[in-house]
Amino acid sequence: MSTRFPWDDSYLLGYAPMDETHREFVDALDALLACEDADLAARLEAFERHAEAHFAEENRWMQGTDFPPAQCHIDEHAAVMKSVSWVLDAVTRGDMAEGRRLATALADWFPGHAFHLDSALAHWMVKRAYGGKPVVLRRSAAGR
Ligand SMILES: [Fe+2]
Ligand SMILES: [Fe+2]
Repeated sequence: MSTRFPWDDSYLLGYAPMDETHREFVDALDALLACEDADLAARLEAFERHAEAHFAEENRWMQGTDFPPAQCHIDEHAAVMKSVSWVLDAVTRGDMAEGRRLATALADWFPGHAFHLDSALAHWMVKRAYGGKPVVLRRSAAGR
């Protein structure tokens, strides 16, 4: 029996490029949870490709903007990629149970990661995008 992982609007964090990537994450993971054993390796490979791009993009945002708490977020991405690569190897050798366990673990992991780590980065990126405004407003309020 496989559970599914439908999109939920509570995953929206307000930074559009990240929200779009997170929709792709949910789709890739849902497809992994829903698939037959015969497709498990291919779905997991597709998930791995998604996760690689997804995490690399967030890491670039963090490193490119001197995001202060970047390291634990980057480390968590790396830990997930390590598990995915290890489990993909096991699935390729025929150990479907490892693949199923990982898919369930990823579904448990994502909401907390998005809520605690991605949300801080999303707010940081939004604030940067509109970064000049509060200063300008303060200056004009002070009559300069
Ligand atoms: Fe993310
Ligand atoms: Fe992340």
